[in-house]
Amino acid sequence: MPMSGPVDATASTTALPTGTVTFVMTDIEGSTRLIQALGDRYPQLLAEHYRLLREAFGSAGVEVGSQGDALFYAFTDAPSAVRAALGAQRRLFEHRWPADVVVRVRMGIHSGEGRLLSGDYVGLDAHRTARITAAGHGGQVVLSDAARVLSEASMPPGATLHDLGEHRLKDLERVEHLFQLVAPDLPAQFPPLRSVPGRPHNLPAQVTGFVGRARERQQLVDLLRSCRLLTLTGPGGTGKTRLAVEVAAGCGAAFGDGVHFVPLATITNPDLVIPTIATTFNLREGPARPVLDALIGHLGQRTMLLVLDNFEQIIDAAPVVGELLAAASQLTLLVTSREPLGIAGEQEFPVPPLRLPNGSARLGIEELRGVESVALFLQRARSVRPGFDLAPSNAAVVAEICVRLDGLPLALELAAARVRLFQPHELLAHLDQRLSFLAGGRDRPERQRTLRGAVDWSHELLGEAERALFRRLSVFIGGCTPMAVEAVCQPGELGLEAVDGLSSLADKSLLHRDETVGELRMTMLETIHEYAREQLEASSEKSEMAARHAAFFLNLAEQAAEHLRGPDQRPWLNTLDQELDNIRAAIRRAIDFWRARTRAADGRRPHPILARPQPHERGPRIPRRAAGVADAEGVLGVPRCRPRGAGRDRRLARRLRHDASTDRRSPRQVSRAGRREGHRESTRKLGLRSHHDRPPGST
Ligand SMILES: Nc1ncnc2c1ncn2[C@@H]1O[C@H](COP(=O)(O)OP(=O)(O)OP(=O)(O)O)[C@@H](O)[C@H]1O
Ligand SMILES: [Mg+2]
Repeated sequence: MPMSGPVDATASTTALPTGTVTFVMTDIEGSTRLIQALGDRYPQLLAEHYRLLREAFGSAGVEVGSQGDALFYAFTDAPSAVRAALGAQRRLFEHRWPADVVVRVRMGIHSGEGRLLSGDYVGLDAHRTARITAAGHGGQVVLSDAARVLSEASMPPGATLHDLGEHRLKDLERVEHLFQLVAPDLPAQFPPLRSVPGRPHNLPAQVTGFVGRARERQQLVDLLRSCRLLTLTGPGGTGKTRLAVEVAAGCGAAFGDGVHFVPLATITNPDLVIPTIATTFNLREGPARPVLDALIGHLGQRTMLLVLDNFEQIIDAAPVVGELLAAASQLTLLVTSREPLGIAGEQEFPVPPLRLPNGSARLGIEELRGVESVALFLQRARSVRPGFDLAPSNAAVVAEICVRLDGLPLALELAAARVRLFQPHELLAHLDQRLSFLAGGRDRPERQRTLRGAVDWSHELLGEAERALFRRLSVFIGGCTPMAVEAVCQPGELGLEAVDGLSSLADKSLLHRDETVGELRMTMLETIHEYAREQLEASSEKSEMAARHAAFFLNLAEQAAEHLRGPDQRPWLNTLDQELDNIRAAIRRAIDFWRARTRAADGRRPHPILARPQPHERGPRIPRRAAGVADAEGVLGVPRCRPRGAGRDRRLARRLRHDASTDRRSPRQVSRAGRREGHRESTRKLGLRSHHDRPPGST
């Protein structure tokens, strides 16, 4: 980056490094104030400060230039840059400055491409370094994620990196994940970074149109102005998640620091709620900083809306959510849950079903089209049968279907998907049969009975092989890639092509395609997943699926472990992030299996890895210990701390791996063979890469 203006004559004449370069920039905080305060004495102070910096940077780096009170250095390796910056801060801190001044220098470190043009660095990385520097405060050293990757294995003694989360920097499109260099002998407390108060959001993209709910949306927006904990309640499939996302997207302007969506459906351990929220901001637990503190530190005074989706199964975490609200005074939570959290300050909002065509006999076709439940049915029916519309011949029947389904969005969606094969009157006849069968005797609230009926009916209409694939898919937690489906569900043995089976289930709304993360993933709505899981539990395939699932994700974690230190780190970490729920599920099942075995065998006390977290323990205790089992650092969000006893845990892991498989081949062989069999073909059809070749997500 050209440093225009008068360049200091002492700048080095050594050749500037090229290739991967680590840039360090420095800048005196409040220099204008210093100039005014010191007058003629300022040039001498400035020179003194340059001398200290250059001494500290020494010959490890090359001076690119200096301008005003800013100095720019390039280093061939990141650890040297970090050592130099730390040394410079120490010198500045220990120096005896004139009594009436405080000289604090902010520093930014970033690794990137060092491309030269006419003796100057060109390209975005030098600019990025300048922006990172500018975001920090005097005395603070801020590193980019790229610099962290290249330096953290060789930190100076006693130095650590403190995660500052993601930030938007001026003029830069990409959000930067930043870290602070911390040393025990230097100040470590600084105000929040001076990043751009952008409005980042990570709300899930919706592939279908949103229908109706104008009144509820307005009510919710109004409520969010005055209450800080708003919980949307209702049975499965009522549309809580969809409504929450819609409302959150519409009120971004009220939350200057953004709106963040935290999916919790796959979490079953209440202890994981705070770590999962922290992961949304890429925050990690530091050695001396529990994750709740890190999260509170990050949220601080930020005006932010967090959407916590699907809270009911981890309702025991409600008190810690209360703690978070109390500590972060500008934070607002919009929660979806089948039951309220029951903590102080909560405002519950029961989500009603979509409006029904009451008195449909009197409604004209146009009026019917405007009724919410009918509108949703029509929209979804058209997605499988373009051109489907209301006509005098079918309007009353469609209206009746909506009434029979109680205006439940999920039930409407499932029924509408069947318009491809059935005429509305056939649909109604089937549904009537199904629902009246369910109406008697079951001890469920009316709407859940309706939904159950809709899912049952949808399931009954599947062919035998599709049903098997559907239940087998429930072994995945948090979605799956088609490749994982090939290896674990082995559709081939059901006489199905994976692509055909998955497409067919998606067409019937039993499965969703999610392409927002770059790689195609198949996901199930929570209510549907529960149903599929019941089917798997009732089948004889449960343990076989669990074993194949464990083998597949163990293999993936082992492959990832080989790449977690090196240039492929980022794509592999992304893959692990995406598969975190699956990996946790595999570990949990292995632990349950082991616990049952050891108890059955001789009543011995289980291995310590199996100990449940104590109520007073915070943080992901089981996963932390189980990191040994996963044998891949970073898999469980604790990448930089090797769990104590990891060696011992690895020995246990080997045994667990073996026990988890019912096959005499090793899990790795099972997984590899399974993948070899059907993979290439379906991978080709789906236009996907193979895990064998390259890390997913890499280009
Ligand atoms: N207003 C709406 N417009 C369009 N689609 C909707 C609407 N409400 C719900 N849906 C669709 O209905 C289905 C069920 O909705 P959603 O997942 O929001 O239910 P939920 O109440 O969160 O269920 P769960 O308790 O199982 O999480 C989804 O596919 C969703 O996209
Ligand atoms: Mg939901």
